[in-house]
Amino acid sequence: MTELTPNSYRTRWAGDLRESDVDSPVPVTVSGWVHRRRDHGGLVFVDLRDRSGLVQLVFHPEEAAEAHGVAHALRSEDVVTATGVLVRRGEGQVNTDAPTGAVELSVTKLVLISSAETPPFPVDEDGHVDELIRLKNRAVDIRRPALSRALRLRHEVTRAIRHVLDTAGFTDVETPVLTRSTPEGARDFLVPARTSPGEFFALPQSPQLFKQLLMVGGIERYYQIARCFRDEDLRADRQPEFTQMDLEMSFVEEDDVLEITERVLTHVFEVAGLQVNPAPWARMTHAESMSRFGNDRPDTRFGLELADVGQALGATEFKVFRGALDSGGVVWGLNAGNVEVPRSELDALTDLAKRHGAGGLVWAFVEADGGWRSPVGKFLSDDERAGVIAALSASEGDLMLLVADSQATAGAALSAVRIDLGQRRGLVPDGLHHALWVTDFPMFEPDSNSGGWTALHHPFTAPSGDLGDPASLKSRAYDIILDGVEIGGGSIRIHDPETQAKVLEIIGMTAAESEERFGFLLRALRQGAPPHGGIALGVDRLVALCAGHDSIRDVIAFPKSASSQDPLTGAPGEVDPAQLKEIGLQRLPVDRVQRTPED
Ligand code: AMO
Ligand code: AMP
Repeated sequence: MTELTPNSYRTRWAGDLRESDVDSPVPVTVSGWVHRRRDHGGLVFVDLRDRSGLVQLVFHPEEAAEAHGVAHALRSEDVVTATGVLVRRGEGQVNTDAPTGAVELSVTKLVLISSAETPPFPVDEDGHVDELIRLKNRAVDIRRPALSRALRLRHEVTRAIRHVLDTAGFTDVETPVLTRSTPEGARDFLVPARTSPGEFFALPQSPQLFKQLLMVGGIERYYQIARCFRDEDLRADRQPEFTQMDLEMSFVEEDDVLEITERVLTHVFEVAGLQVNPAPWARMTHAESMSRFGNDRPDTRFGLELADVGQALGATEFKVFRGALDSGGVVWGLNAGNVEVPRSELDALTDLAKRHGAGGLVWAFVEADGGWRSPVGKFLSDDERAGVIAALSASEGDLMLLVADSQATAGAALSAVRIDLGQRRGLVPDGLHHALWVTDFPMFEPDSNSGGWTALHHPFTAPSGDLGDPASLKSRAYDIILDGVEIGGGSIRIHDPETQAKVLEIIGMTAAESEERFGFLLRALRQGAPPHGGIALGVDRLVALCAGHDSIRDVIAFPKSASSQDPLTGAPGEVDPAQLKEIGLQRLPVDRVQRTPED
C-alpha cells in the first residue's frame, strides 16, 4: 500500500478526510484544484481536488469574509490552498456516494495560488472530447478520471512485472537507444551522427541483439521495461515509440520462458483485477489458428469458427469459386447461426471483407428443403449446396458466409467478419478474458519485394528442423494472445554461429553483409554462447486491455496522434539550418522526397 504523507502545502490529503477527523483541534490545510464551485444564497461551496480525491470546502460570509470573497470569484481549475476546521455536514447534506461525503472543511483562510483559464473541456467528467484537442491540452486531459486512472494502472502493471521478475532473480539492464538497425521488420528511425558526418544511428526496434549479448555475457536472466521505436503506419494498437517488457534467459527451452511469462501475466491480471482463464494457457499451433480462426491471433472467447468448404465445391462452375480453387486458393466459410440479418448488415459485412482484400462475400440462408436463399444459389448444383451446408454443420435458417481467395486473404477477410459478428451479436462475454499461446510458426515467409525469404519472427529465432527446406521449416517462436490481441512474442534463439550465418544467408544476405551488419552478434556467438530464449510483452497493449480501452493512446501519457504527430509539442518540426549544416545534411524540397507507401 502506498502512504501519502503531508507536505509543505498541506497537512492532509483531500480524499482522505473522514468523520473521525471532525473537531480535531488542529486546523486542516488542503491544496489542489477547484473541481466545482457552487454559490448557495450566501454560502459558497467548492469541491477541491487533489491526487487522492475530493473534499467539499464551505465558505461562510459572516465567519470568514475575506476567504468567502476570494472563493466567490474562484473558477474551475484554479489552484488553491485552504485552511479551516473539518465539520460534519448538516442534516440532509451527506453524500453517501463520496468517501468524504459526510464532512466538509469550513474554511477560514484561502489562498489563490494560480488562476486557470477556462479549461478547453470539462475536467470533472470523461465525456467525449475530440482527440486532437485532448492531445494538445494533455496536462488538462491527464487531470480527467479516465486518463489519470489509466496512468496509475500502468504503474501498477509495470510494478507487478518488476515484482515477479525481481523475485525470480532477473537483472534489469539498460541497453542503448542510439544504436544500429535491429531488424524487427519495420522501418528504422535514423539519427544523424554529428561526429561522423554522413553516418547515422538507428533507434532500436527492440533490444533484441543486446539481450542476446547479455546472455553470452553470463547475465542469465535479464529484463527491461524498454522503449522501442518503429517507423510504421499507426493503428489503434500501434505507436512509433512503445514500451516492451523485454526478457531473456539462458539454458532454457520453450517451457521455461512460457512458465515465467505466465507467472508475470497472472500477477498483472490479479493486480489489475482482470478475470482471465487460469494459466497454464493452452498452446495452439499457428496452422490450427489459421485454419480455425483465419489469423494468428485468435479471439477464443467465442465460436463462429471457420471451415474449409472447398471439398464440396471441387467441380463447381461458379466462376468466383472456380477461379479461387484453380489458382491454388481456398473457399472458406463460417456459420453465423440462425440469425435475422438485414440486407444492410450483409452489405456492411461484404464491405468489411473487401477492405481486407477479398473480392466479395457470398451470403446464403439455409432454407427448409436444403436450398439457399442467396444471390449465388442458382450457380451451384444441389450437391454443392448440400456439401457446403454439411461442411458448415448448418441447418435451416442459418446464415452462411463464404470467401473465395488465397488462403491468406480468405483468412484475413473471414476473421474480420467473424470478429465483427461476434461483437455485433454480443457473443463476446462481458468481463471474461481469454489468453492462449500460438506456437509452431513457419520460420520463413515469401518476401514479396525480393522474391526470396524473410523471417516471420526475426532472423535470430531458432529453426526447428533442417534448414535445407525453408518453405516448410517451423520456428521455435511463440506469441501470447489475449482476447484476440497479440500482447507478446518471443522465441528460443540460435546460439550456434553457423546456423545463424545460414539463416541470414536464406533471407538474402551475403556473408559480407551479415558480417558488416551483425558481425558483433556472430562474434559473440563464437565466444561461448549458452542456449537462450526470451519474450517481449507489449506493455501499452497489455495495459489498454487491463484498463478496457481500445486505443493504446489512452494508456500513454504523451502519445503520438494517428498520423504520427505530437500535437502537444508540434513534433516533428523543422530545425535551424545551422543545425543541419553541423550534421552535414541538406534539405530536399518536400516534393522530391520519395514516399514509399506502407504495406
Ligand atoms: P515483437 O516484434 O513481436 O517482438 O514485439 C513484441 C510485442 O510488442 C508489441 N508491439 C507494439 N506495441 C505497440 N506499438 C507497436 N508499434 C508495437 N510493435 C510491437 C506487441 C508485440 O507482441 N525482440 C522481439 C521479442 C523477442 O523475440 O523476445 C520483439 O520485439 O504486443
Ligand atoms: P460478382 O460476380 O463479382 O458480381 O460476384 C458475385 C457474388 O459473389 C457477389 O455476391 C460477391 O460479393 C461474391 N464474391 C465475389 N468475389 C468473391 C470472393 N472472392 N469470395 C466470396 N464471394 C465473392
